[in-house]
Amino acid sequence: MAFTHLGEENMSYNNSHDLCSNLNQEQDSDFTRMTDKAVSRRGFLAGAGALSIGAFLGLSPLAKSVQAAMGTEVKSRLMGFKPIAASTADTVIVPEGYQVTNLISWGDPLFANAPEFDPSGKAPASSQALQFGDNTDGMSLFPLTEDRAVMAINNEYTNYDLLFDHKGEQMTADDVKKAQNAHGVSVFEIRKTGNGWQVDRNGKLNRRITANTPMQLTGPAAGHDLLKTAADPSGTEVLGTFNNCANGETPWGTYLTCEENFHGYFGSTDDAYEVPASQKRYGIKNEDKRYQWSKFDSRFDLSKNPNEPHRHGWVVEIDPLNPNAKPLKRTALGRFKHENAALMIDNSGHVVVYLGDDERGEHLYKFVSKGKFDPANPTANRDLLVEGTLFVARFDAAEGELKGQGEWIELTFGKHGLTPENGFNSQAEVLIHTRQAATQVGGTTMDRPEWVAVHPNKQSAFCTLTNNKNRGKKDNQPVGGPNPREANPYGQIVRWMPHQADHTAAKFDWDLYVIAGNPSVHTEGLMAGSSNVSAENMFNSPDGLGFDQAGRLWIMTDGKYSNKDNFAGMGNNQMLCGDPETGEIHRFLTGPIACEVTGLTFSPDYKTMFVGIQHPGEKGKPSHFPAGGDSKPRSTVVAITRTDGGVIGA
Ligand code: FEO
Ligand code: CA
Ligand code: CA
Repeated sequence: MAFTHLGEENMSYNNSHDLCSNLNQEQDSDFTRMTDKAVSRRGFLAGAGALSIGAFLGLSPLAKSVQAAMGTEVKSRLMGFKPIAASTADTVIVPEGYQVTNLISWGDPLFANAPEFDPSGKAPASSQALQFGDNTDGMSLFPLTEDRAVMAINNEYTNYDLLFDHKGEQMTADDVKKAQNAHGVSVFEIRKTGNGWQVDRNGKLNRRITANTPMQLTGPAAGHDLLKTAADPSGTEVLGTFNNCANGETPWGTYLTCEENFHGYFGSTDDAYEVPASQKRYGIKNEDKRYQWSKFDSRFDLSKNPNEPHRHGWVVEIDPLNPNAKPLKRTALGRFKHENAALMIDNSGHVVVYLGDDERGEHLYKFVSKGKFDPANPTANRDLLVEGTLFVARFDAAEGELKGQGEWIELTFGKHGLTPENGFNSQAEVLIHTRQAATQVGGTTMDRPEWVAVHPNKQSAFCTLTNNKNRGKKDNQPVGGPNPREANPYGQIVRWMPHQADHTAAKFDWDLYVIAGNPSVHTEGLMAGSSNVSAENMFNSPDGLGFDQAGRLWIMTDGKYSNKDNFAGMGNNQMLCGDPETGEIHRFLTGPIACEVTGLTFSPDYKTMFVGIQHPGEKGKPSHFPAGGDSKPRSTVVAITRTDGGVIGA
């Protein structure tokens, strides 16, 4: 999700705008040589990777076909749906032949004894503890049988103006507890019925994980002094997870939930408390005006528990099939504002996890496990995320080029200046202060890395760089390479191809799959977007990202929905489908008013797609999704199927 939740200035959310359109193949041929504004967008192409570059550039008619496809025609053999128009309607719209049903909304009961949703804002914390949490985000489905599955879904944050009748202006201790119960993860069984997949309130695996659920810290940082508190002198037992953004899943059947904007929940009741520089790098402040947890829960009071923030900002592994299993925080994967955890098994057998740190000018990371995945030894696999090596990406490019090479730089104590002279005294400190370590070794500052998705053919991986109003403006963030626009309002998707398709390798090639833009407003230059962006498919702020088994790339947006100025014609947030081979991108879904589209998973047969509609009607915008009428807007997971029962997107 976005930055929309914490109204702090250091977490942004989107910003600007622009556009243009048109390209032809001659221009595509020199796409590597653009220099920002001086360059016509025809010069670059998106969609050409190491594998497909021949296809895109060599088949010169392709550029034209891509352009033509933006009307109604779809050329990609991967996509068989009719693209839809942008929308400002307060509903979910999908292509002809598709249908939408609601699976679950914020406040729906997860247990047989749970109260029904109470829209008054007066329900107590105890109700929320038994109900689906707020603001749905990343999710995974774990099949049990053909018609039974477990869903694990992040509940990222909560909007006080909807959660409370007093809109957060008269907080009590129970209100803080209620807010904490609206966060975390919801795990519940679903069953396939004659009316599609439905929540089973009697599921034995149903569980709420909240900001107060006991968890264990594991890996190199566990037990370090910086993780110790008065309540936990061992530095290994922590309560809760919150601001769970996106997710991941493992082939050994566990769910990964990623802690993003954890900083906004801490504050100090002592105004004189000085936030140390190491915490400021993570945005920790003396005040937590938005959530106000520190006033009623001393765990979040920095003056009393200065180390508590170190115990958050991790990836957490959850066993969705064992409601009694303690969630495990995996410190080997680093501490930052985690977006998702894109886990794959490399051909070598090592587990590789790609990880974005969503803040302007922060970094893209990769974890490689020490051990190897062994399908025959499920118990051993359970420890694969305990130990391994973390890397940060450095992207290299000649000036003005939109592709290049890159290198993963190891974040290991004693290497690359990660030494006591530079403030790092152990691997635990490197991991607790991952951001500082990345700066020390020269990782590339990125335009807010959001989700990563690995192509099912394992040849390439993609990361959404959602936007960055500071690029070229603040913090000396250089304009260029995979971050080619100053004050980037629209975002882009970077793609990298590990050398020899070895995801444990240090070197990779990269290019940009798409540069979002507005070709109706900007007639030339990078603000118009890349050649695979047109007036028909334009969008801003790509965020959620995922492949299906066939290699369709699903792109979800968390952008400006003003539908004017730089964003004119883009409408509400949306979901698009891309073909990585051809570069084609088509709009598949539009969300209701003031929502973000985030969270994606499929039934095992890929005939049902589950999509998250987060924060409809945020900031008082006039949404009544999903119930309509004058109802309160509620974050909702929807299920999308084809009326002919076919595979989604095909
Ligand atoms: Fe929770 Fe960066 O989105
Ligand atoms: Ca996001
Ligand atoms: Ca976002």
